[in-house]
Amino acid sequence: MPNVSRIALGQLAKIAEKAESLNINALALFPVIEKQAKTLNAQEAWRKGNLISRALQILKDFKLITFCDVALDPYTTHGHDGIVSNKGYNNKAFIDNDLTLKALAKQALALAESGADVIAPSDMMDGRIGYLRQILDAQGFQNIPLASYAAKFASNLYSPFREALNAPRSQKERDGITAPRDKKSYQIDYANSDEALWEIALDVNEGADILIVKPAIPYLDIVLKAKQQFAMPIICYHVSGEYSAIATAAKENYFDEKEVVLEQLTACKRAGASAIISYYAPRAAQWLQK
Ligand code: PBG
Repeated sequence: MPNVSRIALGQLAKIAEKAESLNINALALFPVIEKQAKTLNAQEAWRKGNLISRALQILKDFKLITFCDVALDPYTTHGHDGIVSNKGYNNKAFIDNDLTLKALAKQALALAESGADVIAPSDMMDGRIGYLRQILDAQGFQNIPLASYAAKFASNLYSPFREALNAPRSQKERDGITAPRDKKSYQIDYANSDEALWEIALDVNEGADILIVKPAIPYLDIVLKAKQQFAMPIICYHVSGEYSAIATAAKENYFDEKEVVLEQLTACKRAGASAIISYYAPRAAQWLQK
């Protein structure tokens, strides 16, 4: 991704200072885990002292709101957001929804205990918002909000992110691990807008406080419908592929990067976004200050 890089813990305070100086008020954190720590059941996700908990420790000194993903993909050998079972129909590998919920609960609790401000489930398992709400409440975290990736589409625009995570992107890269080849059994079919609205309705009923729609620009119809139907705060997530496409074309002088980015972010706002997650955030904030 042009001009975007993974950062080490030692650089985090500087990044946070810069964000605050630009009036950015929240950071979404995504850990890159060493290959040796990735496993089939993702237990690194709730290990005390893991990378994300150390990052949260550093960010305690800042006013920034921290959004932390609940999903197993940074931690699993195969890069899926859930736990793979091999006892599916016809003995085919599948993502075990209910087994995954238990792992997600451990991850969400670990994040809450480490001081995350907002828990953001991006795994797309069924029933996770209600399940996580119940477990967080029972452990004394009644006040921590759930920002649900309620409408997350099985998009081709996530590739640069998966590469940044070192997640295997093909069967060949999976070192012989049998796992479904894509995320289409849990992320939404991009041809289907009704399903996105059912997914959102379920999450609202289960207790979501904020809704996230992802990717952003190709799905603004969903943002608009969700805003009209549910009147909830909605965040657009302008994803890695959307960022990379603009940044690469701008490098080749196909258009003015600043103008195109402000046009896209404004379109998110026009459709109904209350906030936007974007790799362009620092630069957009600078452009807007001027
Ligand atoms: C998965 C996750 C993904 C992204 C964030 N969390 C992609 C995926 O489903 O593999 C993508 C974000 C981006 O492309 O910027 N939990």
